[in-house]
This record gives sequence, structure tokens and C-alpha cells, in this order.
Amino acid sequence: MRGSFRIEGHAIASEDGMIAAANGLMPDSLKFPSDQKLYEQALDQAAVIANGRLSYEGQLNSPRRKRLVLTRSVSGLAPDPKNPNARLWNPAGESLEAACAALGVTGGEIAVVGGPFVFSLFLGIGYDAFHLSHAPGVRLPGGVPVFHEQGSGRSPEDVLAAAGLKPGPVQRLDDGVTMVEWTRAA
Ligand SMILES: NC(=O)c1ccc[n+]([C@@H]2O[C@H](COP(=O)([O-])OP(=O)(O)OC[C@H]3O[C@@H](n4cnc5c(N)ncnc54)[C@H](OP(=O)(O)O)[C@@H]3O)[C@@H](O)[C@H]2O)c1
Repeated sequence: MRGSFRIEGHAIASEDGMIAAANGLMPDSLKFPSDQKLYEQALDQAAVIANGRLSYEGQLNSPRRKRLVLTRSVSGLAPDPKNPNARLWNPAGESLEAACAALGVTGGEIAVVGGPFVFSLFLGIGYDAFHLSHAPGVRLPGGVPVFHEQGSGRSPEDVLAAAGLKPGPVQRLDDGVTMVEWTRAA
């Protein structure tokens, strides 16, 4: 299902493992220049971005990036009327390889940028790496988790470990943000 693609996830979460507040929106308390710089550099290397409707990253290069927008509004694959570099993709009706091929991409990195439906979908396909940052001192009770699998008090780290990924060293970014790259054991 994944062909020759490398699949990497990217998220910044609150200390309690949420990527958005209880109102469904990502608050400014999760936005840090140091983290956003790393995120932007990583997405510039990707062949394709996979995102949900509310997870468009809105960076300078975003309009030029090839993109799959997950939706149930199409049965398989369709052009995105708002973006010639994107395809609307329903994974129930078309494979990941076919979706990428429709963008002219047959290999390279797929950057998965959320939210929870998209992060969990690719958990099943298999991440090669997941870059998980945490915002210091931020808690978002009742918020939107990184993964649907976080019910029953599980953290995003619990979910990544259960999926067979292992944490690398903690990187401390300028603003007190921590970032860990989780990778699949060889
Ligand atoms: N802090 C972070 O790092 C981070 C990262 C990403 C997102 N966020 C935030 O998380 C929140 C949620 O973002 P989101 O709505 O993009 O997340 P999401 O829940 O992953 O995405 C929902 C998208 O998935 C589609 N979808 C849902 N179920 C589907 C299914 N069974 N088959 C196919 N498509 C399906 C929806 O399309 P339809 O409804 O059209 O079917 C919609 O486009 C936002 O506030 C966003 O800003 C934060």
C-alpha cells in the first residue's frame, strides 16, 4: 500500500498530548518560531504533503507543494478545485500509490501533517519517522488528540511505541519546546 515512499509525521502537542483546543482549533499557545522553522524546512524536503481540511500549513511554499487532502466528499480521487497542486483523496476508494501517481509522484517522502484522522490513518500504513514536539507549560483539557488511539489516558508517545516506533534523543529548541524524532527500528 505504501510503495517506495518514506512516511514521516509532524505534530506539536500540548503537555497533555493535544494538537488543538476543545473548540477544535489550534491555539497560538502551540505556535513557536523555532518549531515552525524546523517544520517548514522538513516540508520543503517532502514530495507530497497529506493533510486534513483544517491542517493546511499556510507557509510561503505551501501553494507549490504537491498535496493530498483527505475527505469523504469524493469516492476515490478528484482534482481539488481550489488548488491545482492538490488532489482530494478518500483512502476507502483509492490507494496511496494511485493518489501520489495522480500528482506525478512515484517515490520520496510523504509528510503527514494531521490532524487526528490523518495521523491515525498513516499509523496503520506505517510511519518511518514521527517528529513529535511538545509545547512547554501548555495543557488543553478536552482538546483534539494527535491520534484517535489516545483514548483511556494514553499519550501520543504510548501510541507511537505501540506502533513499533522508538524515541530518539530529546532536542531542546529555543523557546523551551522539546522535539523527539520517533523512528522505526531497523
Ligand atoms: N498542533 C499540530 O501539530 C496540528 C497538526 C494538524 C492539525 N492540527 C489541528 O487539528 C485540528 C483538526 O484538523 P483536521 O480537521 O485537519 O484533522 P483531521 O480530523 O485529521 O481531518 C479531518 C479531515 O479528514 C477527512 N476525513 C475524516 N474522516 C474521513 C474518512 N473516514 N475518510 C476520508 N476522509 C476523512 C475530513 O474530510 P471530510 O469531512 O470532508 O470528509 C477532513 O478533511 C485543527 O484545529 C488543526 O489546526 C494541529
